[in-house]
Amino acid sequence: MAQTLFINIQSLYGVITTDASKRKSGKEMNVFEKISNAFLLTDNGLIMSFGEMKDLPSISADTTVVDVKGRMILPCFVDSHTHLVFAKSREEEFEMRIHGKSYEEIAAAGGGILNSAKKLATMSEDELFESAKERLYEVIGYGTGAIEIKSGYGLTVEDEIKMLRVIKRLKAISPIPTKSTFLGAHAIPAIFKNNREAYMDLIINTMLPQIVNEKLADYCDVFCDQGFFTVDETDRILTAASKHGLKAKIHGNELGYTGGVQVAVKHNALSVDHLEYTGNEEIECLLNSNTMPVALPNCSFFLGIPYSPTRKMIDAGLPVCLASDYNPGSSPNGRMSFVVALACIKMKLTPEEAFNATTINGACAIEMSNEVGSITIGKRANFIITKTIPSLAYIPYRFGVYLVDEVVINGEIWRQN
Ligand code: NIG
Ligand code: FE
Repeated sequence: MAQTLFINIQSLYGVITTDASKRKSGKEMNVFEKISNAFLLTDNGLIMSFGEMKDLPSISADTTVVDVKGRMILPCFVDSHTHLVFAKSREEEFEMRIHGKSYEEIAAAGGGILNSAKKLATMSEDELFESAKERLYEVIGYGTGAIEIKSGYGLTVEDEIKMLRVIKRLKAISPIPTKSTFLGAHAIPAIFKNNREAYMDLIINTMLPQIVNEKLADYCDVFCDQGFFTVDETDRILTAASKHGLKAKIHGNELGYTGGVQVAVKHNALSVDHLEYTGNEEIECLLNSNTMPVALPNCSFFLGIPYSPTRKMIDAGLPVCLASDYNPGSSPNGRMSFVVALACIKMKLTPEEAFNATTINGACAIEMSNEVGSITIGKRANFIITKTIPSLAYIPYRFGVYLVDEVVINGEIWRQN
């Protein structure tokens, strides 16, 4: 692949030149470094150099030159939490919520995750793959340049493996780095309602060994919350996963102060995600850990539940990551620029904090910060060229408006064919 030189960039954002794989915490999150009037040179899909236009390097005759004409460039989003393999949409539950039912009531009545599992059981691996591939391409078009995808709508040995095989196939065709997470502990299937132990046994003694044997997952997740998995059950699943060499990523504290944060930190989880219910105790616990707090504002917006107190978390010195949680139940939208807008509007994060939370900190939450998450020499040339806009803040200010002009993946303008 030849070199490409992008010139006349009004602002090149998300530049990190030292410690480019380190997460940003507290006050550091408010620094989203930029170079004004910049160039960016890519080579063989990687970032080769960048700087001010006045320092433009001499280039060889076969270098492609792209005149950005005063638009901005930002690193692609890293979406560290999605469930984009699923069978069908669930707008009937959306309507039930309009009429007053809560997410928990719908789940307790067999809707929610169990509804998605029922639908997924009827679909073939190929059908699931094709629909998930569409969604993957959709979010790349929105500017996502690395992604994590979970299982968790199978809930049987066969269907969890089916989902993970779909993710494995997505990884193989994905132009962006992709991680896979086993979430067999997403909900207790109806047939195990009165025998939770039997489902625990299935996860620990059948699913996990088989998944590890087939190398189908990078991480293990558990929905540790009221009405789902208890702290003790989470603890046992994570202990088993760690024996198999799988690190943890937890769904926790979405529905209450349920101990999800503490059990995640106990297991040195890579991240604990949701965190709508996060008090001083949880913040204290996270401050003494390497576990990344991940908030999912789409879910709060869509379900009408509280937003995670990320302002308080950053002020306390924590890193914060933001992800889409793209799924049919609580966030049927994988557009990360909307996540940034919600973070600014509803959580009172600055645009700089919101972009760090969706780029470098996202990369740290899926152990990809050597490869993506910033404009750094040697990282993948995965970046967004914005429309002509006056400032960074203009992006969340125009919430919901599509301001991505082009997405560059591995040094080339992304086109879905
Ligand atoms: O992250 N909270 C748990 N799981 C998903 C929602 C799953 C669903 O409703 O289908 C989430 O929000
Ligand atoms: Fe989720």
